[in-house]
Amino acid sequence: MIPLSVPNIEGNEWQYIKECLDTNWVSSVGSYVDLFEQKVAEFTGAQYAVSTVNGTAALHIALLLSNVTQDDCVLVPNITFIASVNAIKYVNASPIFIDIDPDTWQMDLGLLEEFLENETTLQEGICTEKNSQRKIKAIMPVHVLGNMADMDHLKALAKKFHLEIIEDASEALGSYYEGTHSGNFGKFGCFSFNGNKIITTGGGGIIITDDEQLAAKAKHITTQAKADKFEYVHDHVGYNYRLVNVLAAMGVAQMENLPKFLNRKQEVNAFYREQLTNVGDIQLQEIPNKTSSNHWLFTILTSQQKPLIQHLTAHKIQVRPLWYPMNRLEMFKHERYYSRNDLSMEVYQKSISLPCSTNISEEDTAFVVKTIRDFFN
Ligand SMILES: Cc1ncc(COP(=O)(O)O)c(C=O)c1O
Repeated sequence: MIPLSVPNIEGNEWQYIKECLDTNWVSSVGSYVDLFEQKVAEFTGAQYAVSTVNGTAALHIALLLSNVTQDDCVLVPNITFIASVNAIKYVNASPIFIDIDPDTWQMDLGLLEEFLENETTLQEGICTEKNSQRKIKAIMPVHVLGNMADMDHLKALAKKFHLEIIEDASEALGSYYEGTHSGNFGKFGCFSFNGNKIITTGGGGIIITDDEQLAAKAKHITTQAKADKFEYVHDHVGYNYRLVNVLAAMGVAQMENLPKFLNRKQEVNAFYREQLTNVGDIQLQEIPNKTSSNHWLFTILTSQQKPLIQHLTAHKIQVRPLWYPMNRLEMFKHERYYSRNDLSMEVYQKSISLPCSTNISEEDTAFVVKTIRDFFN
């Protein structure tokens, strides 16, 4: 089987992890945690980074520290991995799903603007949904597949309607909008280091921010909110959301290879794009001019989704569709979904993600292309 997106462990992972094992620094503190945070902050250009046990926990904490609470609403794209929405639910808030742009597959900012202009009121700096009188506190853009929407437009809307921006940049380490790294457009940016991401710690996440106090709060609350160095005195209901040293060690080794991984993702993206243009009815993801994508997961759209998935699977090529639209999931069916033509469903029903691990061979990408071309012929 040619896998979809698997870890690439070819650097100093063994050495750094062995060092943790040899020195007994395997658990919740250790120099690799600090070093990993430093490296991610440096790479993304953020002032501070606080590592977490996974990307979902990073989103949870970012929402908590943005004061998103019970009965508040957060605007989120209707196509995302479920963790974005689960995190909103963890703080007892509600998502308002915004349909996606059919070309970039990101939140449709035209629709978002229309929603905010027509469906909300702004009084004394508080944005309220007209129908329900619920407060809208934040926008959570999700940089789907490493692509990014027009962040100038998004920032202008956030400013006008007094909304926080909490970026779900889980898939977008190494993606930029006009030279600014993802995660730096609002108070918080959150990343995931799950096994299929561009770098992995097995499981892990990180929050980036430029706000010193918020970074300190994030560290405090993700480490059980212990208020005294010696005594077990806690000043908050905290979380055990820390990334352990042994995993951070892996993260440091992975960060060393990130430029190489990004390079390989570019190559694979360029190859697939060139080879699959004008094949059958294949449609590729549009990357806006101002965006530089990390090309995390190469995905195509075709009306032949189901038979092509069958054909590729039969040829031992691992593929998958994008995530099922959030508004159609049983537990979110009652949530508000703002859309004109339900393009989320259309994109979902056509989508196929192709193998694009950073260690995929040229032979394998050529085989994927050949198998797709054979199908359309
Ligand atoms: C868009 C998005 N949000 C959140 C997450 C959650 O990250 P994690 O699996 O590390 O909790 C992921 C990845 O898994 C993701 O792709």
